Amino acid sequence: MIRFINDPSECQKISREILEALKEWFEVDESREQYIRESACQPFFATYEDKTSDKPIGFLCLKETGAETVELAVMGVLKDHHREGVGRRLFAAAKDYASLHGYSFMQVKTVRSGMYEDYDRTNMFYRSLGFKELEVFEEYWDKDNPCQIYVMSLRSAIGTINTRHSYRGAFVEEPVPRKDLEIIANAAIDAPSGCNKQTTDIIVVDDPEKLKMIKEVLDPPVAQTAPAMIIVLTRRINAYRDRCFAVQDYSAAIENMLLAIVELGYQSCWYEGHITDEDRICDKIAGILNVPDEYDVVCLLPVGKAKDEFHAPSKKPFGERVRFNGWK
Ligand SMILES: Cc1cc2nc3c(=O)[nH]c(=O)nc-3n(C[C@H](O)[C@H](O)[C@H](O)COP(=O)(O)O)c2cc1C
Repeated sequence: MIRFINDPSECQKISREILEALKEWFEVDESREQYIRESACQPFFATYEDKTSDKPIGFLCLKETGAETVELAVMGVLKDHHREGVGRRLFAAAKDYASLHGYSFMQVKTVRSGMYEDYDRTNMFYRSLGFKELEVFEEYWDKDNPCQIYVMSLRSAIGTINTRHSYRGAFVEEPVPRKDLEIIANAAIDAPSGCNKQTTDIIVVDDPEKLKMIKEVLDPPVAQTAPAMIIVLTRRINAYRDRCFAVQDYSAAIENMLLAIVELGYQSCWYEGHITDEDRICDKIAGILNVPDEYDVVCLLPVGKAKDEFHAPSKKPFGERVRFNGWK
């Protein structure tokens, strides 16, 4: 059970409780107190014995080090709960948070391997999470504690796939730069299409007047605060004989764009059902954008930075949907 803690005094209380119980790693009073002090105003995740418990058994806190970089500033799990996957779950929550907030890299510092047994285990733990050795600074702390810096890219294809979720909340009031919209649009063009017929076109909308007109026809309202939108168009061209793969083509283009959107630190949602229902909002959008008759508007993707927190929807367990070498 992981909770995001906003209350600074609660953050300090939890970090004190855990770090004081982990003197093997946090024995120097001065630096321990600094971790506790700084934990008050950083993204802070705490984990508890179970859903109803108020007793924290571990925490992790992040620290922004640049516009696109974040540091795993400190984490601790009570020794009785080591090897139960608690640290891994805390890290997964923090990594999700960092990716969703647009950070590209995460770093963590620890004492280099080969100095102390406890820290050797810490190094193994970070490597098992996917951190890569960046550099050792022999005297960053002091000669007896050479500082190993690990780094991890938060922008791998698999990582982006795992962190993409449909976002239906409000967006930050901030235009999306054209260069980012071009990258997203290019992801649509790069998608596969049956017999390379390239049946999908898109219209990127960032003009405030045009956005306003589209928002007005979205009933019930969705994406009302989006600073940009991508409208997906399809053309029914047969790939061969009577086989038309237009739906598959635009689906691949949409998924590519959703991944590009998340990778660039924005959020979106695949709005297709909403605009292609009996009320044919799609046709109203086509009218606003002067879409030629041979194209159908099939989907709307808002693009913008998320203002609200959100969570992954529940999915059926892996084993219920994936089988190897046959059904049974
Ligand atoms: C073909 C298609 C149509 C969709 N249409 C809508 C829609 O009209 N409105 C909406 O809120 N979400 C829509 N979605 C998003 C799904 O609801 C969403 O993907 C699903 O709930 C799983 O959540 P996730 O995207 O966070 O994994 C659509 C998704 C697909 C693939």
